[in-house]
Amino acid sequence: MSTGELTHDLTTTRAPFIEESKSRGDLFIHQPYDLYSETNQDTWRRLYAGIEPRWRKHANPKFLEGLERLSLDRERIPRLEDVNRFLAPLTGFQAKAVSGYVPSYLFFECLRRREFPTTITLRPAERLDYLPEPDIFHDVAGHVPMHTDPVFAGILVRLGEVAHSAALAVRGIDDSAEQTRCMESIIKAMARFFWFTVEFGLMRRPGGGICVYGSGLLSSREEIEHSVESPRVQRYPFRMEWVVNQYFEIDHFQPLLFVIDSFEQLYDEVERLERWVREGRLDNVSPGEPEVNETDLHSFLEEVRA
Ligand SMILES: [Fe+2]
Repeated sequence: MSTGELTHDLTTTRAPFIEESKSRGDLFIHQPYDLYSETNQDTWRRLYAGIEPRWRKHANPKFLEGLERLSLDRERIPRLEDVNRFLAPLTGFQAKAVSGYVPSYLFFECLRRREFPTTITLRPAERLDYLPEPDIFHDVAGHVPMHTDPVFAGILVRLGEVAHSAALAVRGIDDSAEQTRCMESIIKAMARFFWFTVEFGLMRRPGGGICVYGSGLLSSREEIEHSVESPRVQRYPFRMEWVVNQYFEIDHFQPLLFVIDSFEQLYDEVERLERWVREGRLDNVSPGEPEVNETDLHSFLEEVRA
């Protein structure tokens, strides 16, 4: 079937174009813009209109600057080529269309090359508030504005380098079962670090109060407010010992979040993460969520045993 014959729809979990790409084994794809339906466009408009006032109130200033610099369209789903035209001169980052889940090591390798794997489908119209799967609203409206900031972009690149260091660190372990066990523990620690910073991070405002920089929060109309204002959320200063050992679940609002003082602090924490990888301090993190799946483990072990 050619693209021209496909249904005009790029809704998450129901897009024939994506299914076809996956069945061909194509992970990196193009954005077939004409396949967005009017319902998809309307969903984008409603999502943007609903969340924008909450960004103004709760998002960190770098995110708001990023929105302006990208000239994101409130009315239409962005074309990645337009986003990249604004983004690349600022930090060298590029949004790169993918058909689905990117195995963990490959994802970090993309970050190292300043490429951000970007979902092109959009959540269904009846599920505006939350979807466990990423979509283009999460990836482009939630993540990409942060990639316009050179310090934050540098943090992502360093995270990509930490993954590489992790593969090198376990390469020296002779016993294969022990090597796999350590790798799994480090991947879990890195997933927790990523979750509690890039996806769900909070930041102290210089004048007092807290703002949001995590993209999981910035792309959820309900949770952005909840994360900052609800007395039911426990908010603690970022502590590496705790973050890498703290389990999380993805199917409900986060009850526990970590607060950083600045992106400079976060950069230093990524440096510390790498030191801990090298020193073996992530080889025995606490068990529990997230479970490391076979695909992610294999993606790292391939690099270890290359
Ligand atoms: Fe994300």
